[in-house]
Amino acid sequence: MRDLTPREIVAELDRDIVGQDDAKRAVAIALRNRWRRRQLPDDLRAQVTPKNIMLIGPTGVGKTEIARRLALLVGAPFVKVEATKFTEVGYYGRDVESLVRDLVEAAITIVKNAERDRVAGQAKGRAEDRLLDLLLPPGNLPSRHDSESDEATEAAERRQRSRDKLKARLEAGELEDREVEVTVPGRSVAPVSIFGAGNMEQMEMDLQGMLEKFAPKPSRTCKLPVREARPLLVAQEAEGLIDPEKIHREAVTLAEESGMVFLDEIDKIAGDEGGGGKGPDVSRQGVQRDLLPIVEGTTVTTKYGPVRTDHVLFLAAGAFHRAKPSDLMPELQGRFPIRVELQDLTRDDFARILREPRASLLRQYQALLATEGLAVEFTDDAVDAMADLAHQVNQSTQNIGARRLHTILERVVEEISFDAPDRADRKVVIDAAEVRKKLDALANDEDLSRYIL
Ligand SMILES: Nc1ncnc2c1ncn2[C@@H]1O[C@H](COP(=O)(O)OP(=O)(O)OP(=O)(O)O)[C@@H](O)[C@H]1O
Ligand SMILES: [Mg+2]
Repeated sequence: MRDLTPREIVAELDRDIVGQDDAKRAVAIALRNRWRRRQLPDDLRAQVTPKNIMLIGPTGVGKTEIARRLALLVGAPFVKVEATKFTEVGYYGRDVESLVRDLVEAAITIVKNAERDRVAGQAKGRAEDRLLDLLLPPGNLPSRHDSESDEATEAAERRQRSRDKLKARLEAGELEDREVEVTVPGRSVAPVSIFGAGNMEQMEMDLQGMLEKFAPKPSRTCKLPVREARPLLVAQEAEGLIDPEKIHREAVTLAEESGMVFLDEIDKIAGDEGGGGKGPDVSRQGVQRDLLPIVEGTTVTTKYGPVRTDHVLFLAAGAFHRAKPSDLMPELQGRFPIRVELQDLTRDDFARILREPRASLLRQYQALLATEGLAVEFTDDAVDAMADLAHQVNQSTQNIGARRLHTILERVVEEISFDAPDRADRKVVIDAAEVRKKLDALANDEDLSRYIL
């Protein structure tokens, strides 16, 4: 995990997300606070609970994008779920505890990868040894061990010499196509508990695991060239060097101490309580009720053992177009003390979003068309024109934020995109005139733009 300062976190986020400084600062502080907490003495550390954040803002202004980038950035176990995916316990749908199980799975992946990296060198060495054994089978050994020791030593030396020679050739990459016989071992039978957890989903998982274990894949041998056998052997050796118990323990701790959960679309489960008990509202309230203990801190049973959620950081996000944060259950509201509002994007923001992010839309299209051997250039005034139009269409029809740029740009490059493989010219310059030609008629006709842009 990387321990970035708030300033560093914001700087990293700035590379992909335009504006929204308040939100960036808030998540950066929350992240840093986890690091601070880890530095505290044990007794105090247990008392410090995370300050969960609610990101509030109109659609398409970067809420989910911030979460996505944050996840890539921190290397902490992270899950992102839509709150609407859950329904109350007992109803069809995912139960909320599954998000904690997902979090542990994310932690397992992180810890396992770190372990694999740690033993990589050792595993590689062992795999090379095994390759040598396979290339120079013990059958070459003289069978008369009991004969005079002179002869035996001589044979052993000879063998060592051929092994060394072979090793040199192997290292020089001369034997990559030589075939060796490798065994892909079957999975061993291990005891598992079916009733370890009190819910169907977990049970299904255990059952599935158990079936896999009761019907172990039989070991099989196959002949593979060295280049293909090597990764198999390295993986096998690495597996043997890793202690699964240790991984499970560390992963649970990592999830408990550094886990982060992004609850997207939280506004969609904020029903008004006085809604007359209509179907969907009952369910929304139910989801909130189920979520509450997890956000407040509870213990969830997972197949890696019990996981406490007290110190998991929750980030919630929602557009809150119709519902307000105050429509959430009071207890839940109280669990998200930090509220950050994301700003509506301006025309200038749109231009920056087209130009600046590392994987900006313009760069994406340029890279895609470059695969056809086509160099596409957007002039500055073309970018401004697209930003203008996006802004204008957002005002006149529905405001969908930066998502409007996708539809606009798609229109602009449609023809080039279609013709790209057949074009005689290898360079295309798109200027403002071109953009206007493609879009003006559409943008100025409200009915048309409602459908097409
Ligand atoms: N501030 C921004 N900087 C860069 N790109 C942005 C920004 N805001 C939005 N985008 C782009 O717009 C698209 C939609 O943004 P995002 O998914 O973050 O919306 P959202 O705020 O989560 O909206 P919703 O409430 O509808 O879920 C993404 O592809 C993202 O790249
Ligand atoms: Mg979103």
